[in-house]
Amino acid sequence: MKVRKAVIPAAGLGTRFLPITKAVPKELLPLMDRAAIQYVVEEAAAAGIEQVIIVTSRGKEAIADYFDRHLELEGLLAAKGDTERLSQVKHLSEMVELTYVRQPEQLGLGHAILCASAAVGDEPFAVMLPDDIIMAEKGAIAQLLEVFDRYEASIIAVQEVHGPEIQSYGVIVPEPVSEGIFRVLGTVEKPALADAPSNLGIVGRYVLTPEIFDTLTRVTPGAIGEIQLTDGLALLLQSQLMYALRLQGVRYDVGNPLGLLKASVELALQREGIGPAFMEFLEQLVE
Ligand code: UTP
Repeated sequence: MKVRKAVIPAAGLGTRFLPITKAVPKELLPLMDRAAIQYVVEEAAAAGIEQVIIVTSRGKEAIADYFDRHLELEGLLAAKGDTERLSQVKHLSEMVELTYVRQPEQLGLGHAILCASAAVGDEPFAVMLPDDIIMAEKGAIAQLLEVFDRYEASIIAVQEVHGPEIQSYGVIVPEPVSEGIFRVLGTVEKPALADAPSNLGIVGRYVLTPEIFDTLTRVTPGAIGEIQLTDGLALLLQSQLMYALRLQGVRYDVGNPLGLLKASVELALQREGIGPAFMEFLEQLVE
């Protein structure tokens, strides 16, 4: 069955970026000259996803503005003959069909995904966390969709995590199936290094069967009422097979300032017209 829709949960408060996130949604912080979330929507479009559902919240209306047409600006650029910028601006609204749903209260990632249930309906769908920017030859979600085609079951993206870093990840209990593919026997949230069942940490890309919605409604909320996706996955595992794919590519956690900076540097070095001059600057800086 073709996966047509992707959900991007973007309703979080982004407290690690305060004070900027008081006025600017974290997802619009720039990686070079583009909003971070643009890379994720582009990854979805490149994988053949037709509709992206962005879960937003109060104060994040600028995300919809970013992807919307801006006819006055387009007219201005056309009149100036600036075709390159014109196509960059138009590209934003042409990639995929975008739908927005609101999460009225920050009750966790699982709850944010539940808010998209009516928009997704009864079909498998992708979940893409905009905090994770994955630079890979083949996009991360395209890699997962390939595995979904084979197994028609929920697929979680994982990456090898070394040392004590594992303590900040959800970690899978894996059973190897083939190169880079594992059956998921269980998940453990943020284990102590000594208790980690593997070094395979969950990263922010999933393909999920629609049964996750019913499962999320059955999750016992945490202390402040939040519904965690990992709890939903653990419940889903009781009734369905689930697989994990070790992603190819380099992942940047742009949900924190250092990660955003690292991704910016990497992209700047790759960017034509800027890369060599930036490298020169970096070399002078470390001398
Ligand atoms: P995070 O735990 O990183 O939360 O959420 P956050 O609010 O974005 O950032 P900090 O921790 O306060 O700095 C992981 C993902 O889940 C979404 C976030 O937008 C992010 O993409 N999320 C989280 C929601 O959509 N709603 C929630 O209630 C919580």
